[in-house]
Order: sequence, then C-alpha cells, then structure tokens
Amino acid sequence: MANPAARYALAQQLIGQAGRALRLARLEAGEILQKTGPQDLVTVYDRRTEQFFRQAIQAAFPGDSIVGEEYPQAAGDGGAVWYIDPIDGTTNFVNQHRNYAISVGCYQGGQPLFGLVLDVERDALFSAQAGGGAACNGSPIRVSGRRQLPELLLTTPGVPYTFLRGHAQQQALIRLAGQVRAVRSMGSVALELCQVAAGEADLFVAMRSSPWDHNAARIILQEAGGALCTMQGQPLPQDGPSTTILAANSLQTMQMAAAFLHGA
Ligand code: IPD
Ligand code: CA
Ligand code: CA
Repeated sequence: MANPAARYALAQQLIGQAGRALRLARLEAGEILQKTGPQDLVTVYDRRTEQFFRQAIQAAFPGDSIVGEEYPQAAGDGGAVWYIDPIDGTTNFVNQHRNYAISVGCYQGGQPLFGLVLDVERDALFSAQAGGGAACNGSPIRVSGRRQLPELLLTTPGVPYTFLRGHAQQQALIRLAGQVRAVRSMGSVALELCQVAAGEADLFVAMRSSPWDHNAARIILQEAGGALCTMQGQPLPQDGPSTTILAANSLQTMQMAAAFLHGA
C-alpha cells in the first residue's frame, strides 16, 4: 500500500542531508573517474550519495525498487519505484562546483507520487507532489506564458547530442535554434527541466536522457503546467533505456515545436 507522505518526508530529509554533504565536498584528483571516456565522469561523491539514499530507502521501505545511475536496479516486491540521480551534472560538479542537482522521483503503479530536485549550491529545492502543484523552497512556481517562437528561450543539456551529432531532427533543431530568442545549456537535465517549470526557460530538448535524469523533474514540470513527450511525439516512458525529450511551458508550445521539428 502506498504511503506517499512517509516516503515524501524521507526523501525531503535525505535530499537535505545529501545536499549539505555535497556543498562541503572538496574533490581530490583521485576521486574523479572516467566511465566510458573523458566526457563521462563519475566521482566518489556520486557513488557515496547514491548509496546513502539506497540504504536509507531500503531500510525504511524494503519492498520498494530503486533505479539509480551508479548501481544496478534494486528490485522490490510491488512497492514504490524510486529514481535517483545522485549528481545530475557531474561535469559541472567537477569543473564548477555549481549547477548540479540531486534528483529523486517516486512512482507507484505507473503513477507519479512526487519529485524533488535540489539545486545543491543554490540550496533551491524544486518539489511537486502529484496533484499538488510545484514549488521552489516552498513558494509556488509556474511555467511562463510565452507562446510565440521568437520569444522562447530554448535550453538543451547536451549541446553535442542536440546540434553536432547526426540524427533525424538535427537540421530542424538547428533551424529552430535560429528562430527562438536564445539558446542556453546548463548541463543538467533535471535543473533545465526545472527552469522550464519555473518560467525561466520555455522549451527544452534532449537527445538522450535516462529515467534517473528526468523522472523527478517531469513531475515538477507537469505540476507547474508544462508538458513533455519524446522527440517522436510519444508519451515519455517511465522506464527503459535513454530516450529523447521535447518539453515545453505548455501543451500548445510543445505541439508547435513538434510541428516545426517534423516539418508540418
Ligand atoms: C548528464 C547531464 C547532462 C546530459 C546528459 C546526462 P550526469 O547527467 O544531465 O546535462 O546532457 O545526457 O547524462 O551524467 O551528469 O548525471
Ligand atoms: Ca544525470
Ligand atoms: Ca549522475
């Protein structure tokens, strides 16, 4: 039986503790490792933070499943499913020590329960519980009202994947970038989706994103009035491998962008 309030309280407590620990982190060279190459990093803090969440969640809710970036899935027996990215924006964590997030999303039976995304260095906690709207540090947030292409700010977390690598929508995305007001890239799927939720950006494109990257922020964005789908216009799957994402400040903006990208 779902107990969203107890899980939400635990998630809030853990994300606060983990954020405080990351703010104090001072990385040594030997604590930074490459996963698949120099553009794909992991640090001891990514692993330590994910273990911290896993151990606390498994102790409190042993039937829950945990899908995190750094360790194999822990399969429960029908409880809730947690999606954890211990550091979203590891490159920023390593190079800037800012613009990185802890992302915690929780679902039950395919339905969202809550999402939490902590912008760690700003100590800004984006939150949403299903049906309860979205907030940042307790103050309600809402998507922007911008609807016309020339006034939209487009954000995309992986510039090489969006604009430089060949894919079916590459040329259309380059054209789109030339028509919007501006293009930004912070380098964190979770934080950039929260920027759309908070009205600071209007459109978001990612050519690859995993469930732990977006499953918390998607709840926050939808509760703030935004909409998202795959680049093919399909509903975003809750599980599975990396997917593309087209997200926007409204269903209308998302449909306009989808039509632009597919040449309609
Ligand atoms: C990455 C960041 C990045 C995005 C990548 C993600 P990580 O997550 O969100 O902005 O372009 O696709 O994998 O590796 O920092 O957790
Ligand atoms: Ca990530
Ligand atoms: Ca990560």
